[in-house]
Amino acid sequence: MRMQSTNALFRRATLSSSTSTLSIVRRSTLTATRGFSSTSTTPRTSATTNSSAALPLRTPTRTRQFPTTATPSTTRTMASAACSTSPSSSSPGYEKIPNTSIRILRTVSSVRRFRKPLTLDSRSVALVPTMGALHAGHLSLIRAAARDNHHVIVSIYVNPAQFGVREDLGSYPVTWEADCEALAKLDRELADDGENLGRISAVFAPTTGEMYPAGFPGQELDSKGSFVTITPVGEVLEGASRPTFFRGVATVCMKLFNVCQPDRVYFGQKDVQQTVVIKRLVEDFLMPIEQVVIVPTARDQEDGLALSSRNVYLGERRRKVANVLYRALKAAEEAYAAGEGKRDRVGVLGAAQKVMEETLAEQMKLSPSERVKFEVDYLSLADPDTMLELETVDTKKGGILSGAVRFLPVEEPKEGEDLGHSGGPLVRLIDNIILPPK
Ligand code: PAJ
Repeated sequence: MRMQSTNALFRRATLSSSTSTLSIVRRSTLTATRGFSSTSTTPRTSATTNSSAALPLRTPTRTRQFPTTATPSTTRTMASAACSTSPSSSSPGYEKIPNTSIRILRTVSSVRRFRKPLTLDSRSVALVPTMGALHAGHLSLIRAAARDNHHVIVSIYVNPAQFGVREDLGSYPVTWEADCEALAKLDRELADDGENLGRISAVFAPTTGEMYPAGFPGQELDSKGSFVTITPVGEVLEGASRPTFFRGVATVCMKLFNVCQPDRVYFGQKDVQQTVVIKRLVEDFLMPIEQVVIVPTARDQEDGLALSSRNVYLGERRRKVANVLYRALKAAEEAYAAGEGKRDRVGVLGAAQKVMEETLAEQMKLSPSERVKFEVDYLSLADPDTMLELETVDTKKGGILSGAVRFLPVEEPKEGEDLGHSGGPLVRLIDNIILPPK
């Protein structure tokens, strides 16, 4: 088996029911599925870094799945204001979220000062890395972390290194005030629930100067600096669409892990490829992290749309159609569950593509002031350990169904129509479903 070049992966083709061959079209407005040719791929993985950032080995990594939960969607207001904080009388050296014991740590040295005595006291520490704009999905990670750890650190840092030069880092929602309120409310809930081992002890909200002490290396693919790269998993799917994305994620997570020295780290299944990258990072660099915990995707209870910080850009019209990817992945999951013959790529992904095509055809019958246009960036059926494409699913191992869809700005806004945050720009949403081993 060998790894394919990225170009080979985006071969144009079409889905033909008569010949039962699934083909692949990338970014056509009407029907598109990005996928892979039938050449098998090697699950070879390499991970490299040009900085020596790893810590000594403590215990091997385990991965744990939590039971699936459905959570209602939340709405937030966008704000870029600094958090109003007041010094606490109980612990004078630390800035805190008002009316809570949650410390706000802004420097690496302040986290180290906070962290060290916890090791000496054998207290377990969990880290939940986020970029803020917290919603119920983020909160489900924090709840899971508080259940099993004495202390939870939530990091809030919009990491520029994982945004491409053409991606609008500047418009990423910053909701610091609302985030502090959400954390304060959740912490009270955790305190009232006797089932938790711990609560939220600290928010780590560093500046870019603090995270990149030698200076930020830049967002370009050929930027020079200290980066962590995890291949091939970081190069396919989301990594193919966003070539610097997983390098940025792996680099910032390595830094966050080195600063916070967590016993356990919590990531959402929503970003499934990110979880595979993080598991590789922890294993391959012998990071002293006991467990990478993957928490199920929190979804809108009504229509199953995965909660995401980006949903606020959709507006009312596009929001109604936004669950198309989830419906498509569910159809593929059903095709997989239906039996032996349907566990091949064509049978499984063909079911997803049909949902996409039908939904788009319905939209195209509507007038420009009513309809929603979307493009399928890719639909994927991949190996759970490598994210490399599968022709058939080994039922002993299972697979990962995933996809990305780009919702175009509405063509003709109606008067007074809610177009979404920032005037309703193009929104790219991702989702996935795990096909469990049988
Ligand atoms: P962010 O998008 O803020 O997400 C933080 C964590 O929340 C990730 O682990 C993500 O998978 C999880 N998450 C988001 N939506 C979720 C949902 N609906 N259900 C469950 N979990 C959900 O992912 C990042 O930030 C960054 O790449 C980061 C890891 C912080 C590195 O910068």
